[in-house]
Amino acid sequence: MRIEGSVALVTGGASGLGRATAELLAARGAKVVIVDLPRSEGESVAAALGGRFAPADVTSEEDVDRALAVAGELGPLRIAVNCAGIGSGGRVAGKEGPYPLDQFRRVLEVNLVGTFNMLSKAAFRIGAAEPVEGERGVIVNTASIAAFEGQIGQAAYTASKAAIHGLTIQTARDLASLLIRVCTIAPGLMDTPLLAGLREDIREQLAASVPNPHRLGKPSEYALLAAHIVENPYLNGETIRLDGALRMAPR
Ligand SMILES: NC(=O)c1ccc[n+]([C@@H]2O[C@H](COP(=O)([O-])OP(=O)(O)OC[C@H]3O[C@@H](n4cnc5c(N)ncnc54)[C@H](O)[C@@H]3O)[C@@H](O)[C@H]2O)c1
Repeated sequence: MRIEGSVALVTGGASGLGRATAELLAARGAKVVIVDLPRSEGESVAAALGGRFAPADVTSEEDVDRALAVAGELGPLRIAVNCAGIGSGGRVAGKEGPYPLDQFRRVLEVNLVGTFNMLSKAAFRIGAAEPVEGERGVIVNTASIAAFEGQIGQAAYTASKAAIHGLTIQTARDLASLLIRVCTIAPGLMDTPLLAGLREDIREQLAASVPNPHRLGKPSEYALLAAHIVENPYLNGETIRLDGALRMAPR
């Protein structure tokens, strides 16, 4: 799918990986809609790249419908990148008791249900557009290498990201007849506001655990892969690790 001139929507686009992706897609000529929480910096990020901000909680059907309507004002939607997500912490069972079920549900709600909410509704919109060069559009999801090597304390996060990985081939099959591709990126340790809050020595330790390159990943490197997925018509139904050969240890 050609990026230039296409309408692209990025959830979690106000920060980190989503922001870098929105910036790259805009720099390559896409008409970009940033979908993020109302309290986020979506408005200023969108203004800086000449795009639109659609304040939305990805877990809400009404919010997502509204965001898709904003995208529709710019032309037929072709590209949807799901970056909105939250982390979690806490062992399955610790000294204080079992992991609180409401916290488990919350992480699944944002990461998994939020992704599916946008994926299904965006696919419906994309499916209504005329095909261009044999395809109608592309959806990129964000998992994590925790989908494969969940660390201690990551039960809810791991479950949500493993489910996104599992959905990748399934949704690619479901949407094949609509000529829509679906891929997922599973990042390792990326240098976003999510990690910026950590102590410098911990950040250095994390960076040192990455075999090559021996550093945290850059959001721009995620954006490059997302753009490549959009542009490469033969990539479909695949989860691609972006992790500098990192395989997470138990802790
Ligand atoms: N940074 C990493 O090392 C890393 C590694 C693996 C996977 N990931 C995944 O990449 C994605 C982006 O992470 P990031 O590091 O850029 O984080 P980030 O916190 O910088 O950005 C996440 C964005 O999602 C938005 N968001 C959160 N909940 C939302 C909701 N309910 N509705 C709409 N927007 C919502 C936030 O406002 C924020 O702007 C997440 O899914 C995360 O799990 C990140």
